[in-house]
Formats: sequence, C-alpha cells, structure tokens
Amino acid sequence: MIVVTGASGQLGRKIVLHLLQKIPASEIGVSVRDPGKVRDLAKLGVRVRHADYENPQSMYDAWEGAARLLLVSSNAAATGGDPLRQHSAAIATAAKVGVQRIFYTSQVSSSPTSLFPPGRTHAATEAMLAGSGLAWTALRHGFYAASALAMNARGFESGTLELPEDGKVAWTAHDDLAAADATLLAGIEAVDGPTCPLTGSEALDLADLARLASEIMGKPVLRRTISEDAVVARARQRGVPDGAVAVMIGYCRAARAGEFAAVNPSLSQILGRPPVTIRSVLQAEFG
Ligand SMILES: NC(=O)c1ccc[n+]([C@@H]2O[C@H](COP(=O)([O-])OP(=O)(O)OC[C@H]3O[C@@H](n4cnc5c(N)ncnc54)[C@H](OP(=O)(O)O)[C@@H]3O)[C@@H](O)[C@H]2O)c1
Repeated sequence: MIVVTGASGQLGRKIVLHLLQKIPASEIGVSVRDPGKVRDLAKLGVRVRHADYENPQSMYDAWEGAARLLLVSSNAAATGGDPLRQHSAAIATAAKVGVQRIFYTSQVSSSPTSLFPPGRTHAATEAMLAGSGLAWTALRHGFYAASALAMNARGFESGTLELPEDGKVAWTAHDDLAAADATLLAGIEAVDGPTCPLTGSEALDLADLARLASEIMGKPVLRRTISEDAVVARARQRGVPDGAVAVMIGYCRAARAGEFAAVNPSLSQILGRPPVTIRSVLQAEFG
C-alpha cells in the first residue's frame, strides 16, 4: 500500500487523484488530521485514517501496511511550531511501521545555508532521512506558483506588487508536481536521495509577473520595491505570524541569491510534456 499524508491539503489531494489513475484505490491510503475533509477520497475507495505529526501513535496506526509513504512536509514553522520535531517523529514512526521507502516533499532551496528558512528545514530533514536507515527519496519541488499568487494577493488586487528586491524563480504548478510525485511513487525503480530539481520551464521575477498580470488583466500592475522593515511593519499591523514573515523575507533574499532560479528538464521528462507555464496559472486566476 502507498500512504499519502497531508491529503487534505492542496498537494497531497492532487497526488492521490493522480495515483488513482495508476493503481487501484484499494492500494492507496491517506492519513489526515481531519477525515471529514477527504470524504470524497473515502468514497472513491481510498483508505482514510486519522494522524497528526504531533502524535506518533496516531501515525503508527494510520500508516499500517504502508510499503511506501509520501510525507508532506510540515508547514508548522509559519505558525511557531517545530517542523523538524514533527519530521523526526514521522521518520521514526515510518521505520517502526516497516515502511520500505519514504518520499519526502522537499524543495529546490534545500541546503543548510539557504537564505529561505524552509530550505534549511528541508536540508535538515533530508539529513535525518539519510541517517534513518530507510530508503528515501526527496522530491525537490520547484517554488509553488500558487505561492506567488498567495504572497502577492493584495498586490495583484491593488495593482502594485510590493516586496523587497527579489530574483528569478522557476515557478511550478501544484498539479504538475503532484502528477510527477505520483509517477515516482507508483514507479518500480525509485530515485535514491534527492531528485533533480522539479521545476517549471522558465524563471521569472516579480517584475515579470507584474507585466504578465497587466496583459492578462488589461490594467496596469506595477512592481514596487520596498524595504524589509516595511514588510515587517505591515505584516505586524495585519497580525501575520512572525514565522510567516520570516518565510516571506527569506524568499526575497533567497530569490535575490538565485536559489530558485534554476530551470531543469526533469519535471517535463517525468510528465512527458512541458510543465504548465506561470502565464497560464495567472491566466486561470485573472483571465
Ligand atoms: N515548494 C514550495 O514552494 C512550497 C511552498 C509552500 C509550502 N510548501 C510545503 O509543501 C507542503 C504541502 O503544500 P500544500 O500546498 O499542499 O499545503 P497545504 O494545502 O497547506 O496542506 C498542508 C497539509 O499538511 C497537513 N498538516 C499540517 N499540519 C499537520 C500535522 N501536524 N499533522 C498532519 N498533517 C498536517 C494539513 O492538514 P490540515 O488539512 O489538517 O491542515 C494539509 O493536509 C506545505 O506543508 C509546505 O511544507 C512548499
């Protein structure tokens, strides 16, 4: 059985839907904090069990019979939680359950010296996996195109994208990553360790996105560089948690340093077609 965690989230759900096109539902399980969010998957015949990364016993029960486990990385840091403690508990539980291979949703910035806080968490988690004695694959995902929309939601609405100086990013669609993850999960051969970067086919910065959005929306969308202090002050005013602000500022610093800029053909090779472009993501959102 293949068990997918985080199946109530955007990525995990899509991975399950792609897996269902490849293997019978009876061979797929999901573990979620709230089974009520995945009733549709249960109706399709997927095994649904409750598990929380904070509760090892719940993971042990939910992952019973899992030969392969897709571990969706925790987003706890954004709200002051400890993703490394959660990942460590998850990896130890997978070993106890007898999982043969863990697939972990890493990111292209994975490095102990990344300027992007999640990049350091991914690197530390990959190191834990390497020391776990289990077979493992780190799915080095490109930066989500959906994050570009989320981080700039107010900017697209007001017509001015305001963040500190950024850099080129090979934005990548959730559905492409999910399709590739499902292919690798269901495949007979598995990549050992980190995959090549799984990215979109072009790298664009916020000024490029503003230009594209202007064309699509038929109204001017500008790019204005503001200071990190201004971002922090504005975020505090809006009650954004400190962890989320650190991620936003870290993204700009890491993008400036080129951490997300590499374009790699691997995703397109796994999919057997070109990845979705950021233009079509923006078109779907604003067109
Ligand atoms: N590659 C990138 O650029 C990028 C960008 C942003 C985030 N990420 C990472 O990718 C992950 C998946 O992305 P996504 O878009 O699918 O995020 P998402 O829609 O927020 O989904 C996150 C999933 O993780 C689950 N989860 C959170 N805390 C958990 C816990 N303590 N125990 C068990 N499950 C827990 C959530 O469950 P609930 O439904 O119960 O909340 C949800 O199913 C994120 O969590 C983050 O680590 C990557």
